[in-house]
Amino acid sequence: MPGRIAVEYEQPLAAGGACSTRQAWAHVPPEPAPAERAALRQQIRRLLRQNDAVMVAHYYVHPDLQDLAEETGGLVGDSLEMARFGRDHAARTLVVSGVRFMGETAKILSPGKTILMPDLDAHCSLDLGCPPAAFSAFCDAHPERTVVVYANTSAAVKARADWLVTSSCALEIVAALAAAGQKILWAPDRHLGAYIQRETGADMLLWNGACIVHDEFKAFELQALKQQHPQAKVLVHPESPADVQALADAIGSTSAILKAARQMAAKEFIVATDSGMLHQLRAQNPGKIFHEAPTAGDSATCKSCAHCPWMAMNGLADLARVLATGANAISVDPALLPRARQPIDRMLAFTAALRNGQAAAGLVPHLGAA
Ligand code: 13P
Ligand code: SF4
Repeated sequence: MPGRIAVEYEQPLAAGGACSTRQAWAHVPPEPAPAERAALRQQIRRLLRQNDAVMVAHYYVHPDLQDLAEETGGLVGDSLEMARFGRDHAARTLVVSGVRFMGETAKILSPGKTILMPDLDAHCSLDLGCPPAAFSAFCDAHPERTVVVYANTSAAVKARADWLVTSSCALEIVAALAAAGQKILWAPDRHLGAYIQRETGADMLLWNGACIVHDEFKAFELQALKQQHPQAKVLVHPESPADVQALADAIGSTSAILKAARQMAAKEFIVATDSGMLHQLRAQNPGKIFHEAPTAGDSATCKSCAHCPWMAMNGLADLARVLATGANAISVDPALLPRARQPIDRMLAFTAALRNGQAAAGLVPHLGAA
């Protein structure tokens, strides 16, 4: 297949233990020529109206898809915002531009809606690196622990969880669980898990997964870039390694990074997250300068080069095709749906309570049902 690339990711051999290297693949669709691009955008606008469909896009996908989502009344957001928007929107069809777990979360929350994705093979190394059977065995070995999983997981892994979190609410949820005296079993991202452990002091047992994009940011080279741009503030996604986080002026989810860039007085930033974010960062902050954080030293070769190969699989032509044909509809095993929905509902209730200024910790005792 033209444009097909091999992507290496880590597969933990045992929970918390060593990893072996596995291979997946991705393919990046060709950039359409200007006339084709304009025609596709027009066609997608028309099909969205005709099909009672709305776009939900992640910040890491191609700028064309982010712009279309915004222009047509859809959403560009982080994974928590995507889940909430998809659940609450009245449209009968959601077109999710992102990676597979985002489409699955939308389906779990809205089983009656049609969820389409430009490419169903858009995976995530965290999801691939946390196979349900191995994860289930890990949970079985630690029945006394509350199972908290990151959104970047399969429906089967979510179905084993007590709580779901995204990077924008993980700290608050784990802090509330720890304050209620609970010990945590965490999966799959080891860097985000360790960050939450450091920040909350919670007792956490960590799965050993990693994001192929954020795991590649390099502290030594970042330090050198900081020296070249001494005025720049460093914004870091918590899926990055601890030594990169240690150089950050702000650490947070994609939405938190955007907020920090808007609110900080600095005029120059170094950004350690997927380069897809630069589109919104520059659009929302005219006059501010954004540099990509380095992913490899002189003697190394980057694998992802700061752009998720699976996010890059989302393209205009496939989006138009699935809207026209109904192809690439997400399905989730109906037997998993109720159990997989429980931890997502808890997260959404918790974050809604936080937003409304209610005592979200009051929701934690209900965990006993899990
Ligand atoms: P956010 O929840 O911050 O959008 O992150 C999702 C993700 O996949 C980051 O790599
Ligand atoms: Fe998964 Fe990393 Fe891609 Fe996000 S950037 S979807 S965590 S592989």
